[in-house]
Parts: sequence; structure tokens; C-alpha cells
Amino acid sequence: MAKILVTGGLGYIGSHTVVALQEAGFKVVIVDNLSNASIKVLDGILAITGKLPEFENFDLRDKHKTQQFLKKHEDISGVIHFAASKAVGESVENPLLYYENNVNTLIYLLQELNKKDNANFIFSSSCTVYGQADVMPITEEAPIKQAESPYGNTKQIGEAIIKDTCKANKNVNAIALRYFNPIGAHKSSKIGELPIGVPQNLVPYITQTGAGIREQLSVFGDDYPTTDGTCVRDYIHVVDLANAHLVALQRLLDKENQNNFEVFNLGTGTGSSVLEVIKSFERVSNKNLNYKIVERREGDIVSAFADTKKANSVLGWKAKSTLDDAMDSAWKWQQTL
Ligand code: UD1
Repeated sequence: MAKILVTGGLGYIGSHTVVALQEAGFKVVIVDNLSNASIKVLDGILAITGKLPEFENFDLRDKHKTQQFLKKHEDISGVIHFAASKAVGESVENPLLYYENNVNTLIYLLQELNKKDNANFIFSSSCTVYGQADVMPITEEAPIKQAESPYGNTKQIGEAIIKDTCKANKNVNAIALRYFNPIGAHKSSKIGELPIGVPQNLVPYITQTGAGIREQLSVFGDDYPTTDGTCVRDYIHVVDLANAHLVALQRLLDKENQNNFEVFNLGTGTGSSVLEVIKSFERVSNKNLNYKIVERREGDIVSAFADTKKANSVLGWKAKSTLDDAMDSAWKWQQTL
């Protein structure tokens, strides 16, 4: 069975994708520097799949090591590249870290793949590339707006680097997946999101508040032009998201891609407001959540949800889980922590 490199494979989306790959019979080798992941995630992957993936702990910013690694693993048939920094606020404070970590590592990987007769590459992109889109739902044709943060900019630059590489070298085949808001955990509750410190994202903040780790959730603004005044996002179960990587990878391995660089939105197609997410949590947990409405958060967009037609028809993939399913899994996972 084909061997797949998963960079950042011990992270949140990466670990769920490793499980999906192993369950589909792929041989997986993970590279992760553990900067935002725990080595214990390997135990979770083993418990779910019965298989321990190969694992190397090193930093892809080390160009020499990256070269050596790819020489050693010449038989890799595909790369899924998750390893990156992802905190918007941190990227504003430390932009050079973000450009080095997210852009240099991508270049080093592509430089090696560029030498192969056939290379297959899946890139973690984000709906952040659209900024506040003018039309909802957001299609892949929506214009890419000036990035609001260095983090967002690294995703735009990353896509551009891959696109140009694919244009120059038809042996490199790539798919950029633009994620909307991943939430939830594996149904076994053996892997899930592990935020370090105070969560910046909504769902881990909610579940930690439900568990008594945080006292109160602040809802950032209720005067937006939405149905209940709170911001709207497209929350997608991380297992659905992981499965989309499998489908995208298989498309490249089967040479079914129409162009050697393709882009897909990965979302559910449904927008949910912050208050709707809170209500969903209250339903699945049978708890009342302590929250209060506070000022808007700087940089937040009003609304973002995906047009999923392209992923549905071209990839043949569709998100299956409901918001309640995802919140239920997030809550069960929280209770194991
Ligand atoms: C954020 C990032 C985005 C990144 C994504 C990754 C920003 C501005 N954007 O998206 O670039 O790709 O995470 O997951 O940081 N909320 C609250 N209270 C909280 C936390 C969040 O009300 O304590 C609200 C936010 O205002 C927003 C929604 O919940 O309306 C979702 O927030 P979040 O989970 O941070 O995701 P995004 O802002 O969509």
C-alpha cells in the first residue's frame, strides 16, 4: 500500500487524517516537531487503528534534515502538509516566525518534490483567504482579498507558491483544501483538539467553560447584521474534514485530477451563529453555558460559509455530521481531558 507523508500529523486535523489514512490501508509516516502537539497523540492513533505510524520528530525549517528525510523515504507516494503555525494574534506579533515556519517549510518540501517524476501534494489552506467575501455562500471563484493577518497571508502565499510550481512542472500535482471552521473530535474520544493555554477558538472555549476550566465565555458582539446579531461561520466536523483529505489524495494517486493544481472549499455549506453553537452545546451536554455578550473582536468577519458544490460534485465528498454531532463529540472529548 502507498506510503504517505503527513507533516504535522500529530496536530488536530493531522491526527484525524492519519487515522483515516491508516483505516483506508495507507502506510503513514509523520513528521512533527511537537511545537503544538503531544507525543501522546500517537497512543490515541494506535488505540483507534491498531497501528502505530512511523514518526520522526524534527523541524521542517531545517532544510538539510528535510532533504535527508525525503531521500531516505524515496518511496513516498504523496504528501499531506499540515505542519504550520495557526494563531492569528501570534502571527501579528511575530510575523517573521509565521513566514519562516509556514512559507520556508513549504518551499523546502516542494523543492524536493520538484525533483520527482511524479509528486502528489495536499495543502492545508483556509477560508481566511477570502476575507469578508461579498457573496454567501463562498465559492472557490470568490476573489482573494488582502489578508488581514500574516497568518492569512501565509496561506495566500502558500497557494501561490504551489500554483506557480505546478505551472512550471507538470510532474507536481497539488490540491489546496480551504477549510472553514473545523470542530469536534474522533468518536472514540481518543484524539481531539488540544489547545495550549487559553483557547482562541470558539468551540474549545465553550467546552472548557462547560467543564469548569473557564468561568465564562465571552461572545464577541451581538450587533452584526446576522439573524441574531452574532457572527456566522461554517463549522465542520474534523472527521468529515479528515475524510476529504483521503478523497483528495486518492484523486491524485488515481490521476483523476483535471488540472495539476486544484482548489476546493471544505465546509458543510451551512452557516451557524455563535448563539446557535452555544445552543447546540447546551442541547448535547444538558448544561447551561455561562456566557456574556462583550465587544466585537478586532479582525472578525461577519459571516463565512462555504459553497460546497465543487467538492460535492468533483471530489464526490460531502460533510455528513451535523453541528450537534460535532458538538457532542467535542464535549465527550473535553470530558476525557
Ligand atoms: C479563526 C481565525 C482564522 C483561522 C481559524 C482557524 C481569527 C480572526 N480568525 O477563525 O483565520 O483560520 O480561526 O480555526 O482569529 N468567538 C466568540 N468568543 C470566543 C471565541 C470566538 O464569540 O471566545 C466567536 C468569534 O467572534 C467568531 C466565532 O466565534 O464569530 C468563531 O471564532 P473562531 O473559532 O476564533 O474562528 P474564526 O474567527 O472564524
